[in-house]
Amino acid sequence: MRKPIIIGNWKMNKTVKEAVEFIEKVDGHVHDKATFGVATSFLALDASLKAAKNLVISAQNCHYETSGAFTGEVSVEMLEELGVKYVIVGHSERREMFGDCDCSVNKKVLKLLSKGVTPIFCIGETEAQFDANETEAVIRSQVSKGLKDVQDVTKVVIAYEPIWAIGTGKSATKEIANTCCGIVRDEVSKLFGAEAAEKVLIQYGGSVKPENIEEYMAEEHIDGALIGGASLQAESFISIIEKVK
Ligand code: PGA
Repeated sequence: MRKPIIIGNWKMNKTVKEAVEFIEKVDGHVHDKATFGVATSFLALDASLKAAKNLVISAQNCHYETSGAFTGEVSVEMLEELGVKYVIVGHSERREMFGDCDCSVNKKVLKLLSKGVTPIFCIGETEAQFDANETEAVIRSQVSKGLKDVQDVTKVVIAYEPIWAIGTGKSATKEIANTCCGIVRDEVSKLFGAEAAEKVLIQYGGSVKPENIEEYMAEEHIDGALIGGASLQAESFISIIEKVK
């Protein structure tokens, strides 16, 4: 049985004060049918970790080196010291705007695993790739490159997020989302074996909201969601938490 995981990806939103206010409103609604959490800015991590009793707190990125001349970057050791247990890596916005690629994302995944922190490893095709029927090839390539040399893939959460569905309101149908998460699971099975593939958690992301969370969660290969816009308002996230019961 896979326990679902729902993470709100706040992106560059919420000050420390706003993050704590959100957590104080939402934390008491968390139940044990799934893991629920939010990915805050680096700045809000410490206060969020202190405020949250039930929500898990994730970072949105990390560097793969321990320390050094990497202006503006944050290492896994720094996050680990705070008590961070999850870190999103390879989000499409980072791949598109900040130079993240399969190779650096793979280094981040390996570094996080070496420190016992769970990577939320993001993949997904562009609209042009979707239109050109390249989705399956892109997914398989991103999974195999991003998870290269991983020993225990069940310690990774994989987030399938078609880029054309992120922040657009144009969510993938539940059939497309399930098919693509199934391709991810099949690739994991080829690379790491059927037993690991049966256990690994695969999220869908892209315009998930209270109105559609239940239909995604009912699909065989979808074990949760990575949620941007609809995770920013406490009421909306509470509604999502209630619907995952
Ligand atoms: P969205 O973002 O829910 O606003 O589409 C999802 C994400 O970027 O993880």
